[in-house]
Order: sequence, then C-alpha cells, then structure tokens
Amino acid sequence: MARISQHLSTIALLLELSIIHICSAQQVYVFTTGISPRPHCSASYDKAPATPTYRFSQFSFTQTETYRYATSIPPPRTTKTYARPYRKLKTLIPPLQTTTWGNWNPNDTAATDTADPYGQAAWSSLWEWAAPANYTTTGIYSTTVTPTPIPSSELVLPPKDYFGPTDCYKFPKDFIFGVAGSACQIEGAIAREGKGPNQMDVWSEPGEPNNYVTNENYYLYKQDIERLASLGVKYYSFTIPWSRILPFAFPGTPVNSAAINHYNDLIDFVLSKGMTPTVTMIHFDTPLQFYGTNITSRQWRNGVMGVGSGAYGNPLFEDSFVHYGKILLTHFSDRVPIWFTFNEPMLFCDTGASVNNVIKSHARVVHFYKEVIKGTGKIGIRLHDPFSVPLNPQNQTHIAAAHHINSFHLDTFWNPLVLGIDYPESFKMAITDYVPLTPKDLAYLKGTCDFLSIQPYTASVASPPPGGIESCAKNSSSEYFPFCVKLQSTNIFGWNFGYRSYSRVYTTPEYLRTYLNYLWNTFRKPVFITEFGFPVFGEADKEVREDMLYDSPRSNYYLSFMTEVLKAIWEDGVNVMGALAWSFADNWEFGDYDARFGLQVVDRETQERYYKKSFFDLVGFVRDRHPNYEES
Ligand SMILES: *[C@@H]1O[C@H](CO)[C@@H](O)[C@H](O)[C@H]1NC(C)=O
Ligand SMILES: *[C@@H]1O[C@H](CO)[C@@H](O)[C@H](O)[C@H]1NC(C)=O
Ligand SMILES: *[C@@H]1O[C@H](CO)[C@@H](O)[C@H](O)[C@H]1NC(C)=O
Ligand SMILES: *[C@@H]1O[C@H](CO)[C@@H](O)[C@H](O)[C@H]1NC(C)=O
Ligand SMILES: *[C@@H]1O[C@H](CO)[C@@H](O)[C@H](O)[C@H]1NC(C)=O
Repeated sequence: MARISQHLSTIALLLELSIIHICSAQQVYVFTTGISPRPHCSASYDKAPATPTYRFSQFSFTQTETYRYATSIPPPRTTKTYARPYRKLKTLIPPLQTTTWGNWNPNDTAATDTADPYGQAAWSSLWEWAAPANYTTTGIYSTTVTPTPIPSSELVLPPKDYFGPTDCYKFPKDFIFGVAGSACQIEGAIAREGKGPNQMDVWSEPGEPNNYVTNENYYLYKQDIERLASLGVKYYSFTIPWSRILPFAFPGTPVNSAAINHYNDLIDFVLSKGMTPTVTMIHFDTPLQFYGTNITSRQWRNGVMGVGSGAYGNPLFEDSFVHYGKILLTHFSDRVPIWFTFNEPMLFCDTGASVNNVIKSHARVVHFYKEVIKGTGKIGIRLHDPFSVPLNPQNQTHIAAAHHINSFHLDTFWNPLVLGIDYPESFKMAITDYVPLTPKDLAYLKGTCDFLSIQPYTASVASPPPGGIESCAKNSSSEYFPFCVKLQSTNIFGWNFGYRSYSRVYTTPEYLRTYLNYLWNTFRKPVFITEFGFPVFGEADKEVREDMLYDSPRSNYYLSFMTEVLKAIWEDGVNVMGALAWSFADNWEFGDYDARFGLQVVDRETQERYYKKSFFDLVGFVRDRHPNYEES
C-alpha cells in the first residue's frame, strides 16, 4: 500500500526498520518520542528567526468573510432510460390485479366487504391483527404537499471549520455522490392509502417512540427532494416498503395502485429536479405475514447473526420476494439506474435458511433484471460489516480473528454472489444448519453483484475470544457466538481509536481506506459506499437549534472519510464508484429519535427541516472536487 511506504519515508530516521513486519492493509504500531514532523512546512520553519519582531499598527476591524450560496442542481437537459417502460415490460410477469384501500381507523368497523379476501375489511383486519400499540394518526398532513422553492437565505454557507482538508485530488467524473434514507424511518403514514403492516411498524418496545408519524415524508417527499436539489445533491437513495406495494405480501394478492402512483411520482419528481434515484427493495421492513399467524410473542429482537429476525427463513419468503422484486423492476427500472435488493441482510438473519433465501432470491431478481428485462443499470446488495482490524497486528491470532469476522460478514454473501464460491468456514462452523450450495447453485449465484455496496460507519478492533475461535463456534451460549471474535473500540494502549458518537460510531477515516483496499483487492469489483454517517454525541440534548446545526464533529467525520476515499482512489488504485451519506435528515432510528444521523434537523412539532452545517460542508467538499459540478 502506497500509504504505508509514504508514512515510513517521513519517519524513517526515527525507527528501526527491523522490528516492523508490514502486511498489506494492516496497521503497525511504531514507537517514537520527540516532536512530530511537519513535512509540508519544513522550509519556512527552518528559516524562521528564533525571535519575532514586535511592532505597533493602526487597529481596525479588517476581518473579511466570503459569503457563498449553495449551488442548486440545474434541471435535466436530457432523459436517459435504463429499460423499457412498464407498458412494454408487463407481459414479462403474470398479470397483476390492482386495487386501492383507504386509511385504517381502529375505531371504524364500517367495511362490509367481508367476503372479499383482499377487500377493505380484510385489509383492516390485517391491522387489527398487527395491533400497533398506541396507534395514532396525528400527523400534520394527509395529502401530498406541493413543494415551495427554498429561499436563498437558507442556502448561505456556514463558517468553515478552522482545520480542514488539505488534499489536492478530484473525484473521477462518474463518481456518484448522494444522500440516503429509508422508508420505515421517514415516511410515517404506516396504515394509510392501503399500506399493510410490516415488522418496523410494531418494532418499538413499550415506552419507545414508534414510526407512525416520523418525518411525514410520505406526504412531504417533494419538499424533501426540493431541499436536496437546492443544496446541490445529485443522487437520492430511497427504499420502498414491500407492504405498501403488496399489503397482503404474497404472490397472487393485489397490487396497491396508490403505492405504484406514489413511487412513480417520487421518481419523476427526483428526475425533474436534475437528480438521479436509486431504489432499495427491502430495508428491515418485512411484511408481518411472514412471521406466521401468531405474532404475539414478537421474538424477532433475539437475532442470531444480528439484531433480529427478518423472517427471511420462512419457506414462502424466496418466491414472494422474487415476485415483489419483479413488480418493482417492471414498473420503475426504465427510470432508475441503480438497484439494491436487500439492505444489511445479516442483521436480520437468524438461521442458515434465512441466508439461503436471501442470496437465492437476490440472484433470481438480478437474473430477471439482466436477462429478462435487459436492464442496463446496475444492481447489488448492501452489506453491513463493522470492518475489523487486528488489535495487535504483529500477533497472528489477532490477524486471524480479524479475518474470521470480516469473512463471516462479507464472504457469506459475496463468496457465492460475487466469486461463485462456497460460504466461508467462519459462517459454516457456527451456523451449522446452513443450506449447502451445489455447483449448480454457485454457477447461478456467481456474478450477480455489479458492485460491492458497504456501509462502513466505523471500524472495530478484533482479537480472539477467551478459549479461542474454534471452541466458541461450537458453543452457541458463548457471549461471542456466532462471530466468535472479541471486538473493542480501543487500541492496544487503551485509547479510543477515534472520536466517539452517540451510538458506537467512531471517526476512523484511515481504517476506511484500509477497508476500501481490502474490499477491492479481495472481491475485485467497484466499491460503493451506500451509507455512512455520524450521530454527534449529545446532539439531541442541545437546548437551542443553532447549536444542533453547528455540527463540526459530523463535518470532521464526513470530510475525513471523503479525503480517505480520494486517497484510496488515487494513491491505492481502488475503484470507489460512489458514496451516499446517511441520512439526509434526522429520523426514527428504530425506537429512538435521539440517535441523530441526519444532515438536517427535523422539528418534531412543525415538521420543518433545517440544513445542518455538515450538509453544506460535505456537499461543498464534493462540489469543489467534482468535474460534474464545474458545469453548474
Ligand atoms: C379511537 O377511539 C378512542 C376512544 O374513543 C380514542 O381515544 C382514539 O383516539 C380513537 N382512535 C382513532 C385513531 O381515531
Ligand atoms: C402506550 O402509551 C403509554 C402512555 O404513554 C405508555 O406507557 C406505553 O408504554 C405505550 N405502549 C407501548 C407498547 O408503547
Ligand atoms: C402466541 O404466542 C404467545 C407467546 O408465545 C402464546 O402465549 C400464545 O398462546 C400463542 N397463541 C396462540 C393462538 O398460539
Ligand atoms: C497473541 O494473542 C493471544 C490472544 O490475545 C495471546 O494469548 C498470545 O500470547 C499472543 N501472542 C504473542 C506472541 O503476543
Ligand atoms: C459455553 O459458554 C457458556 C457461556 O460462556 C459457558 O458457561 C459454558 O461453559 C460453555 N460451554 C462449553 C461446553 O464450553
């Protein structure tokens, strides 16, 4: 890696090279004392006289500040398509029955169409069965809000942080930059216009806030998109809830035409603003029907490989997801160039069957997109991985521990889906009910990701668990099961390895660069950062909005991460195809409104949005370095 050799050349005099064993993409601890070198200023530093010359002059307020406005995205000049429109594609799937339903009102038992298995009464009883606790419809809006232009007074750039990037790189011309959100965290309107219940609608524990209203983005999407375009954001990454498209979830049940209209309108509005949409098919929001008829126990928080069960292991899941995916692709792939099947599937996998169903349904959807629709866009799967580096990189067992957990998170999906090879040992030794993959399976799964989409919020530090990896993998009651690695956020000297945010996200930009090298060189596909973000510690506790908006730790996180992306591209030769910041606004963070990952503050009383400083800083960083922004 270029970085390590450069680093060495600057401090070569200070160390004994013989103690260092450099492995690719791995940190080493180098002990030294004395002053830190300042290579960029050595000339003037050496020439400066030892004693300053003091003098008097006439005082005046001569500080000047340059006020700059954000540069809005211009309207599109051309329209590009990536597949034929729905009216041409619809013959490629079985005929769909469409219908509409109303809004659910728990007190309203007026629907009389009880003989219709998919009528209004049947739909209402889905919600009675789901029984969202303390359900309320008390948002502000009940219909799509017409957007208003953002006044220029909101688009004045904030003061820059005193210390900032010093790099001289540019982004490649086709580098994708945008922001992301997910439906269950922003839409609200959970039981409106025909949407059926999904896991996230009943996720909150007693006393935790739920997602019934959240940002009311279901009605405010145009205003939200208007705000992004005004600031200069080019890509908008959003997710579609399966339960809105198919409230009864399964193949053969009617499609909600209100939902199709909604997302058609959303996509068209994004395009009309000169932006580009990307769509994710499932983002933790499995329709509740996959949990079986008895959801009373709600045991889905006891995930084995993550935080819960997405019911992906249900025998009906694979075919149902493929059917749903085909509906999305036939309707929207003419205008959407980038698709993701699953978001972070391992967080909601609990059995070998769940992983099996995820990878097989992913591959079937991708084959349909490439071979049947003949879409010319790109498609992949978004993985979660707390990229682990060895606590002591000179200890082989620590290196093995880091490889073990990284392979569990990444190779379990990308071995079959990218390389066409079997699951890794790390997965198979712990998840013993895994479904073996045949050579025929592997040939079908191979090459079904156009890119490696990862969400590298932070890194972690790995060492072996007490008793070692092997014995842990045989003991499902071990606290380290199933990953069987001890993770920490401190280095070997006990220092936190980065600045800590609210929810165990640390600013670890140099590990991001290591990670990008690891991904590109291991799987040999372009890397796509599809989420990264930083919930500033204590942001929700700040008393005045001005303080929430002045979020320098978040700016520091984003600008340092983007600087390392540029170094990975230009110094290491890693193909990083883009980065999507999470998230474009504060939102419902799975039972919590205080974990604020947003680039905008949302006033929970008025639904008004306010740009944070980091949003300007991040967009400005990209705009100043991106050839595509020079024309606008
Ligand atoms: C249903 O009725 C109860 C009791 O009258 C009331 O408190 C509640 O707000 C009503 N719910 C809705 C959604 O109208
Ligand atoms: C419903 O609201 C009450 C009163 O705010 C609260 O005590 C209770 O925990 C809530 N129930 C759930 C399941 O969130
Ligand atoms: C549903 O599950 C709960 C909790 O496990 C259990 O108490 C209840 O008896 C079950 N109901 C039915 C109808 O099986
Ligand atoms: C390597 O790490 C393991 C586990 O932390 C430890 O038991 C062992 O002593 C270390 N070996 C060396 C050579 O430091
Ligand atoms: C498995 O792990 C549990 C929890 O750490 C421990 O109590 C138990 O002794 C372990 N079992 C074996 C066979 O090692």
